[in-house]
Amino acid sequence: DIVACVVGARPNFVKMGPILRGIEACAPNVQTRLIHTGQHYDDAMSDSFFRQLGLPQPDVHLSVGSGRQGEQTAKILDSYERWLLDCEQTPAATLVVGDVNSTVGCALASTKLQIPVIHVEAGLRSFDRTMPEEINRVVTDAISELLLVSEPSGRENLLKEGKSDESIRLCGNVMIDVLRSQLDAATALDPLRKMGLTKNQYAVWTMHRPSNVDDPEQLRRFVDAMTQISQLLPVVFPVHPRTRNQLETLGLWQTLEATSTILATDPLSYHELLGLTSKAKVIITDSGGLQEEATALEIPCLTLRENTERPITVDEGTSVLVGHDVGLLVKLVDDVIENKFKQGKCPQLWDGSAGRRVGAEVATFMASRKNPS
Ligand code: UD1
Repeated sequence: DIVACVVGARPNFVKMGPILRGIEACAPNVQTRLIHTGQHYDDAMSDSFFRQLGLPQPDVHLSVGSGRQGEQTAKILDSYERWLLDCEQTPAATLVVGDVNSTVGCALASTKLQIPVIHVEAGLRSFDRTMPEEINRVVTDAISELLLVSEPSGRENLLKEGKSDESIRLCGNVMIDVLRSQLDAATALDPLRKMGLTKNQYAVWTMHRPSNVDDPEQLRRFVDAMTQISQLLPVVFPVHPRTRNQLETLGLWQTLEATSTILATDPLSYHELLGLTSKAKVIITDSGGLQEEATALEIPCLTLRENTERPITVDEGTSVLVGHDVGLLVKLVDDVIENKFKQGKCPQLWDGSAGRRVGAEVATFMASRKNPS
């Protein structure tokens, strides 16, 4: 049997390695095909992840590129459907990860051709439908047959949405598998020395959510807060292309570059970023993946979101939701510096073996479709 495994955007590339290895180890009757939709295409956003994480070259590249929400999702749906119709051997299932437009586009194309969908990182809900990712999550889960969840809230949400208990499996967090296996390689690169930073004496800041960067006033407030915080701790700021475009348009990029305590950089490679986050005093971010990585690394995380689809990072982990409240943000950075910030613990099954559990579930699912009981 062939399972087509879809990646498109940066966080997908990180998650796919353990999944492919897990399937190889635990599902010997399953062959995989790696499909890259081309949602992300710059070297820094895509190829550098393939190189560093040892991902195989994609079997198929759909080259969809950037676009409006509907336009990009439609292009992904259309090009994946064409590939499914034209390929030599039709896959028996499509496996998608996360919540990006590539996830929902390929899930829709697949299910419309009666090819079942397996969703890794299913069930996460922010309950905020202004986020494109929330729509992607809800739709993908509604049409997926096997739902592999990373934290217990995923199961609860899916049960409430009427999914059957048998279709849901708690496998843990594949992104943390990668973190655990790559930490030594990341540390060996020694990005701190290259950037003139000292362990535990700097902040790492990332943001790219439309709700934070598309509104000029909001972005200005964050840049002001960053300048203020950088007086307390140097700030490393790897800048996503969406954010960079907006900063340049608003004339804020020059302000950042002129501030010696802010190190604004191009997007970093996986190893460089992990090397930096693992030794940071605090992480300030709107990224779902970084919230989880901060929890696994036990590093304080100030999350620039009003809500999170990953509640375990707040309930058990090191994250606090700050939303748009820059006053609270500065106060919490003070708390971190004075070591008054809450402690966290690493969630169960974020243990480096989630990919193997995914592989085992894929094997059982494929076997059950061959021999329905
Ligand atoms: C996407 C995901 C988001 C994820 C993020 C990680 C959706 C709806 N959003 O957001 O969940 O957290 O990826 O990065 O799928 N661009 C480049 N080079 C690239 C890719 C993008 O310059 O390689 C620029 C383009 O101007 C593009 C913009 O970034 O229009 C946004 O890219 P897009 O893929 O639409 O969404 P992200 O903001 O990256």
